[in-house]
Order: sequence, then structure tokens, then C-alpha cells
Amino acid sequence: MNGKPAVLVTREVFDETLAYLGEHCEVESNQQDVPLTSDELARRAAGKQGVVCSLTDRIDDKLIASAPHLKVVANIAVGYNNIDVAACTARGIMVTNTPGVLDDSTADLAWTLMLGAARRVTEVERYVRQGAWKGWRLKQWLGTDVHHATLGIVGMGRIGQAIAKRARGFDMRVLYHNRKRVDETIELELGTSWVTLEELLRQSDFVVLQVPYSPETHHLIGARELAWMKPNAILINSTRGGVVDDVALIDALRKGTIRAAGLDVFENEPKLHPGFLELDNVVLTPHIGSSTEATRRAMAMTAARNAVAALTGGRPPNLVNQQVR
Ligand code: DGY
Repeated sequence: MNGKPAVLVTREVFDETLAYLGEHCEVESNQQDVPLTSDELARRAAGKQGVVCSLTDRIDDKLIASAPHLKVVANIAVGYNNIDVAACTARGIMVTNTPGVLDDSTADLAWTLMLGAARRVTEVERYVRQGAWKGWRLKQWLGTDVHHATLGIVGMGRIGQAIAKRARGFDMRVLYHNRKRVDETIELELGTSWVTLEELLRQSDFVVLQVPYSPETHHLIGARELAWMKPNAILINSTRGGVVDDVALIDALRKGTIRAAGLDVFENEPKLHPGFLELDNVVLTPHIGSSTEATRRAMAMTAARNAVAALTGGRPPNLVNQQVR
């Protein structure tokens, strides 16, 4: 390769990310941060060896076909359901993600939603702002206790484990469901035990979803699963929209067959099903699980390091498709 490899950064990143990429690559960056259409993405990726992208970009056959020199797609996210990994692998394109650096921030946000939904924080905040608060009453805004309750975590990867760790301070009983049981030493350390999904949903007061989105986890929580949950249970989704059937959830929240939900992700985000906006028993946040200053900087830098490693003949530290040589 003559000169520096060419890299497209599809969305705005931090100055230090650009500076680091610029030391090793010719960089074209969409610093205006206007989401690129798939045509625009394909046009800009043509001739590039690397693409540093975000979960809002679809990296599919069309993009891959338009970029015959592409060697690496570095996602600024741990989830990579926006990328057709099989198509990349078939073309020998490395796919990387950003595991690890966002575990604690994402776990904190799951807890924010749990506590917020349990204590009705957004509902009462609206009430106070409207000037409707006229004084203290014994039966006012009764919430649900988090401490000593049963927490069910669906998906016991790194983020699930970080969520479980925080539950110790709240003296919670912690159940988990995962395709594969985690190591017994981790179970003991976290004080958690494996149960089936049905058992978890039937027994938990709080259910937190932390599985990656894939065809297997599409609508993992639908009408049947919601019906298994306790009437006082609270559902938290801080992983990916599509893991929950939003229409079924709205129905359950409306009928009160579960108490509340805390949602950071949605099936067709950023579009929300209008049903959510009519409900008070749901806390809504705009996919900010990993969004702290330090974590988002670390994610962008991790993606940049992955891209540079791939483009300078190394093995990226966070290679998703290990089979690519
Ligand atoms: C991820 O990294 O997958 C998160 O959803 C980004 O916030």
C-alpha cells in the first residue's frame, strides 16, 4: 500500500480520536454528524480501507460491494447487529467492537432505570415541575422497594455481571438466565444462580435484559413472557430494541399486568411507538447506556485503535470475526 490507508469515520468523534487516526491514516470524517443515508455511506466508503462507524450505520452487502478495498469495519459500540458480519467475513473484512470500556457505565444506566421506574422519578418530576405539588401526604406517590427484592438478569455477560455486582449493596436475591451457565466461581462471587427464562420471569421483581440482539433474541420478551411476569414486576431494557416486542409491552403496561418499565432502547428508534408516550409507568431514555464523557471517549478511541491495528498489519484487540486472516 502506498501512503497512508484511507479511513471513513461515519459520525462525529472526539478530537483525540481524529488526531490518533490522523497519525496513521488519511481520514474523512462526518464531523457535522448528519446520519448518512445508505447511498451516501456507500459513496463515501468507496476507495477506503477502513470504516469507523456507529450503531446507526447499516454495514451491509451494498456498502461492502461499493468498497472493494475495505479491510476493517470498526464499530463504536459493543453491539454489532448493524453489521452483516457474515458478509464481511466472506470478503475477508475484519469487524471490531468496543467491549469492556462501557460495562460499568451501561450497568449504571440499567440501575438508573431500575431505581427511576421503582420510585417513579420521571413521573413525580413532571408533577413537581407542573406546580401540582401541594404538600406531603402519607399515601403519596408510593413506589416499589428495590432493596431485598429479587433481580433477574437475562444475559450474564460482562455488563450483566456488572449489574449483578451492584445488587449486593441492595441486599437483593439475584437470578440469571443465559444460554450457557457462567463459571461457578463467578456465580458464587456474584451470589447468583441460573434459572430458566420462565422461572426468572415468574420469580423476579425486576427483570433486566442484557442479551445482544440477533435473530435468536428477536422478541425474546413478547406477550407470553410478559404474562409470566409478576403483576408488581418492573422490566428494564438497556440492551437493544427488538429484544422486546414493544406492542406487547405497551399492552402489558396499559393493562397493568406488569407494574412499570424502564427503557433505553426501542424497536424502531429513534422513532418511539406512540403508545409509550401515553403511559406514566414507563421511564424513557434515548439510548444513552454508555453515554458518559469518559466512556464515550474510551469507546471512540478503542474503535480507532482497532482500525489502526487492522490497517497497519496487526491483529485488532477486539476482532469479532476471528476467522478472518
Ligand atoms: C453499544 O455499545 O452497543 C451501546 O448500545 C452503545 O451505547
